[in-house]
Amino acid sequence: MTKIFVAGHKGMVGSAILRKLEARNAAGEDIELITRDRNQLDLINQAAVADFMLEERPDVIILAAARVGGIYANNTYPADFIYDNLMMQANTIQQGFEAGVRRLLFLGSSCIYPKGIPQPMREDSLLTGVLEPTNEPYAIAKIAGIKLCESYNRQHGTDFRSVMPTNLYGPGDNFHPENSHVLPALIRRFHEAKEASFDEVVIWGTGSPRREFLHVDDMAEASLFVLDLPRETYEANTQKMLSHINVGCGKDVSILELAHLVAKVTGFTGEIKTDPSKPDGTKQKLMDVGRLSKMGWGAQIELDQGVEGTYRWFLDNHADLRG
Ligand SMILES: NC(=O)c1ccc[n+]([C@@H]2O[C@H](COP(=O)([O-])OP(=O)(O)OC[C@H]3O[C@@H](n4cnc5c(N)ncnc54)[C@H](OP(=O)(O)O)[C@@H]3O)[C@@H](O)[C@H]2O)c1
Repeated sequence: MTKIFVAGHKGMVGSAILRKLEARNAAGEDIELITRDRNQLDLINQAAVADFMLEERPDVIILAAARVGGIYANNTYPADFIYDNLMMQANTIQQGFEAGVRRLLFLGSSCIYPKGIPQPMREDSLLTGVLEPTNEPYAIAKIAGIKLCESYNRQHGTDFRSVMPTNLYGPGDNFHPENSHVLPALIRRFHEAKEASFDEVVIWGTGSPRREFLHVDDMAEASLFVLDLPRETYEANTQKMLSHINVGCGKDVSILELAHLVAKVTGFTGEIKTDPSKPDGTKQKLMDVGRLSKMGWGAQIELDQGVEGTYRWFLDNHADLRG
């Protein structure tokens, strides 16, 4: 029997991972799932995390708890973004180590990479330049998470791994008008525009920046794939001080193309206009997924199919959305 602690099991990624692990259990695997929501265990509280780890002694930890948000939230609450993430990671990793955890998976983000680097972004671009200023505090915390894992591996011989997802979307996403990421924000705007019979929707900037989107069920699959790899395979495909693995679908789409897709899925038939007076941000953000595909994993869910499912989830859960 393997005891797995999924930290952040109520979040978009954590809940998708939990669904996969529950399905494995139903299929006959012997997994004891351990979960605590934030009210039961605040991962920022070192003493509480220490007590929890010593009481439960998980074999495996999946660290999907984090303070997460879009540009607005990162810009408005930079102190919360760096402090909360550093503390959650440091406490979970150190106290997990003290309690003898066998393996740990840390979830980072593509924003760890410097701005202006060649696309697609390779793992070895880490720490080669200056970060995007808007989410630098969050990115620094995520880089520290990778370095925590690597340092414990080097000093203590642990088996702590890191995955860096691209933009994720899917059931459980945050559709808050100010705190959400681009895809759920577009779903909400086009849905509301359709409901209100608006003639047009204006999207920020020229619509030409290109971004990559991965369905959260694919992300959950990839996380468990990386977690299940034999240690020798993980180590042979990464480096001691460059041990993280990018997770993406390897394809990008322009924001305007994405807006047209969301309009189609939500049934909005008005005009889509761009507003070139607003800043565009980085021209392209695409992960190089060579490391992961060489090991045998590739995304399965196409964007149109994924957006349709996410819109259905949005409609079903509209009443109790965050915000
Ligand atoms: N979403 C994306 O597009 C994306 C992209 C790249 C990487 N990631 C990474 O994937 C991971 C999961 O993200 P997500 O999108 O699933 O985020 P999410 O939906 O916001 O979930 C985060 C979870 O962490 C929990 N949490 C926050 N602070 C906590 C605390 N102090 N103690 C205990 N639990 C706490 C939250 O609990 P509450 O519900 O109580 O707040 C929530 O369940 C993060 O590491 C994120 O950086 C996400």
